[in-house]
Amino acid sequence: MDRLIVQGGARLSGRLRARGSKNAVLPIMAACLVADGPLVLRNVPRLRDVTTLCRILEELGVSVDHGEDRLVLHAAADGPVEAGYDLVSTMRASVCVLGPLIARRGRARVSLPGGCVFGVRPVDLHVKGLNALGAELRIEGGYLESEVGKRLHGAPLFLGSAHGSSVLATAQVLTAACLAEGRTVIENAAMEPEIVELTRLLVAMGARIEGAGNHRLTIDGVERLNGTEWTVGGDRIEAGTFLVGAAMTGGDVTVEGVVPEDLSALLETLKVMGAGVERDQDSVRVHASDRLRAADVTTLPHPGFPTDLQAQIMTAMTRAAGISVVTERIFPDRFMHVAELLRLGASIRKEGSQALVVGTEQLSGATVMASDLRASAALVLAGLVAEGSTEIRRVYHIDRGYERIDARLASLGAQIRRETQPSS
Ligand code: UD1
Repeated sequence: MDRLIVQGGARLSGRLRARGSKNAVLPIMAACLVADGPLVLRNVPRLRDVTTLCRILEELGVSVDHGEDRLVLHAAADGPVEAGYDLVSTMRASVCVLGPLIARRGRARVSLPGGCVFGVRPVDLHVKGLNALGAELRIEGGYLESEVGKRLHGAPLFLGSAHGSSVLATAQVLTAACLAEGRTVIENAAMEPEIVELTRLLVAMGARIEGAGNHRLTIDGVERLNGTEWTVGGDRIEAGTFLVGAAMTGGDVTVEGVVPEDLSALLETLKVMGAGVERDQDSVRVHASDRLRAADVTTLPHPGFPTDLQAQIMTAMTRAAGISVVTERIFPDRFMHVAELLRLGASIRKEGSQALVVGTEQLSGATVMASDLRASAALVLAGLVAEGSTEIRRVYHIDRGYERIDARLASLGAQIRRETQPSS
């Protein structure tokens, strides 16, 4: 099992290009199941989640050709329809194969993904949306099963939870509705850039969709969709992680290959904290020379502050001058990083879905445990500013969503190395 060892004190500086977006590519990959021809994807990040979804697709009879710079997925109209627990439980996004399977093959048996470290994470909206299209889903032995055996039908539906819209439920229902008979109107659809990208991909495949980037999506079903070629957009969360790193180390980093508007909530927060921010057409520069100042952040669906950058910005707050308040509105229990940041000397008090962060002048290096993808990235950022050395264990969480974060940070001047621990 790998661990990362970070030596604190280096300033991050330089330029890099964002890798392809993890959250965009996963539902895009699942969309190969509704295409008659091959889906040729470029700029696919090399991540454990991508490999896992490739394995699930292979089990569904999809031909998967993962070359040096492209991923080709080709799904026949017929084939296996079961996605089992062993793989689905390791990655929630894999539930996204459910809707496409029912829409094209008329049947599906997909394991319920289960919870994760930051909460129960229900799939009721996925079920509600697909049932509105006639999927007649039932739960049997921990699996979601559907055997409609005929074309889904369009319907008006509302996809809202107590915490707002749902990204993957929107992706799921949107993709299935493209092959349904008649018109589907999704109210309270997620507006995340990854949904906009999925919509554009589906349109390139021949789907008829109106309203990308709005709360209402109107889909007029077609009988078949074709394959296409697609270059995956840059990962705004990976980019945001490096930009927070630049601000908190007093560094100067430019990330290319992103849409600056997709990062507005983060960039505005970094400005409030005293960092300099410059946007270009497809790049963002963040630089800082003084100690950051406190700020308040509330996570919200896009275009609000993304929950996937909450742990990273909280890490920056641990050393900022003053008291910051973080309110988590998407996943109220997403605070596993707090206990580990406390081990590094941070001063944080958690109350329900809020955390009060009192900035301290210095963190001190220690051994910490990665608990989930973004929390782990935050611990790496903490290591960059902690005095001495910080060892981050269970790095496989980071490798799920960041392509070689150690090499990427080292290219910006971080002192970081990866060690492979012999398994005991
Ligand atoms: C996606 C992202 C994840 C990000 C999250 C929120 C991917 C692969 N993952 O996850 O990185 O943190 O969006 O931006 O794109 N909910 C329900 N019922 C449902 C579905 C969701 O109540 O059926 C709730 C969730 O518990 C949560 C809220 O809705 O409180 C938003 O979650 P959702 O947008 O669905 O997250 P994911 O799409 O799973």
